[in-house]
Amino acid sequence: MASSAPSTALVIAGTAAASAIATALAIRFFSDAGSKADKASLDAAVRKALEAASRSAGPVAMPKASSDKVFPATRRLLRTEQQRILVTGGAGFVGSHLVDALMQQGHIVYVLDNLFTGRRENIEHWVGHPNFEFFQQDVVHPFFVEVTRIYHLACPASPPHYQANPIKTIKCSTQGCMNMLGLAKRCNARLLFTSTSEIYGDPQIHPQPESYWGNVHTWGPRACYDEGKRVGETMCFSYRQQHKVQVRVSRIFNTYGPRMDPLDGRVVSNFIMQALRGEPLTIYGTGKQTRSFQYVSDLVRGLIALMEGDYDDPVNIGNPQERTVEEFARSVASMCGSAGGVVMRPRPTDDPMVRRPNVARAREVIGWQPKVSLEEGLVPTIEYFKGVLGREDAKLPADRVWLPSDLSIPSKDHPDDAAVERVVADAPVTAGSAAASGAASA
Ligand SMILES: NC(=O)c1ccc[n+]([C@@H]2O[C@H](COP(=O)([O-])OP(=O)(O)OC[C@H]3O[C@@H](n4cnc5c(N)ncnc54)[C@H](O)[C@@H]3O)[C@@H](O)[C@H]2O)c1
Repeated sequence: MASSAPSTALVIAGTAAASAIATALAIRFFSDAGSKADKASLDAAVRKALEAASRSAGPVAMPKASSDKVFPATRRLLRTEQQRILVTGGAGFVGSHLVDALMQQGHIVYVLDNLFTGRRENIEHWVGHPNFEFFQQDVVHPFFVEVTRIYHLACPASPPHYQANPIKTIKCSTQGCMNMLGLAKRCNARLLFTSTSEIYGDPQIHPQPESYWGNVHTWGPRACYDEGKRVGETMCFSYRQQHKVQVRVSRIFNTYGPRMDPLDGRVVSNFIMQALRGEPLTIYGTGKQTRSFQYVSDLVRGLIALMEGDYDDPVNIGNPQERTVEEFARSVASMCGSAGGVVMRPRPTDDPMVRRPNVARAREVIGWQPKVSLEEGLVPTIEYFKGVLGREDAKLPADRVWLPSDLSIPSKDHPDDAAVERVVADAPVTAGSAAASGAASA
């Protein structure tokens, strides 16, 4: 069990390896002109980096946060109100935003992440906070901590990452999920599993309701992810049936926002990075395929509402505003002021032709619907990518951590967000003062 006032000393040994993987994968993914020899050497580099990431270096003692470190404001909760929450994959894009929200609400948050695609920078602003602890570990290995809630996000989510080591991806979705469900059973904790719209495959029903069983190629290049998530869902409902574990299953549709990995090969990051560089935007296929993009703050609200609600069958969380990829490319180009045009490439195998959530269930059972339009959400996202651009390794600038306050959409149209701002507006906590005040509880 973790200590009741988490130490600040655990930090990471794998950042360099994770960065090497991301870079090598991206080079391989984007280079369609390279020779066979180039590709072989890139494959070897990816393999080497993956091996480095999978060799558990174990927690490394690092200097504690200095006592004058100022943390983002958090709400003070009574012990009886405070949840102990594990977020697997909490150093990733979605996970780190979820961690921000849970920390701001005043809960105790543990992050478990092997930093394969996640980054320490995403959670750096919480390291040293008495309510926060980070464990660098792989979810396929058993992990024990006393918690009341588990958000299980750990899994590579972009095609170049999950296809780099498909067997590992399957292990993550099966063994990893089994470990977390076992932990939920042992602690009597509630578990939320982040499934995906990919479980619908190349759908024959449009938009996709939760009742649709999907159209997935069981052995295609995307199957390690799609089928892994499908079996993850099956495991959740088997644990619910057999062991009465409380489960929640969110089916997440394309999500974007600050802290996305610029090299992850997803359409949002690809287009914005290319537009900012003045390069042509690469469209795979005809551009007539559709996608629906949701801003990350909408997703985080949905995940928390689902976790804390009573409904325990699968729920779609996505933005039903549907665009063709071509339309999306035009929006990005115009918002970035790019005149680079587009270039067409062949459509990847099993790439779905349409994607749009039916969110009637989410509205009904958890009172959720997206609030942020694509035009609103792209503004901070493009700003974030501008900050990333130009750095040689395309990582976050070391001196620019994106704090929770930087990431909210400032809009009078979102009164709930303003209410959240007020709730968390307690005096900021410093490493020294928070520890001394005993803000953390067991
Ligand atoms: N972002 C989206 O559009 C989207 C859509 C559908 C589903 N999802 C799901 O949401 C979750 C988070 O996605 P994301 O976009 O933040 O991706 P991400 O790659 O940024 O985050 C995944 C995190 O999991 C960690 N991780 C991967 N394998 C691990 C392992 N074996 N052990 C421990 N940690 C591991 C990574 O280091 C990373 O921090 C994933 O489960 C993904 O399948 C995301």
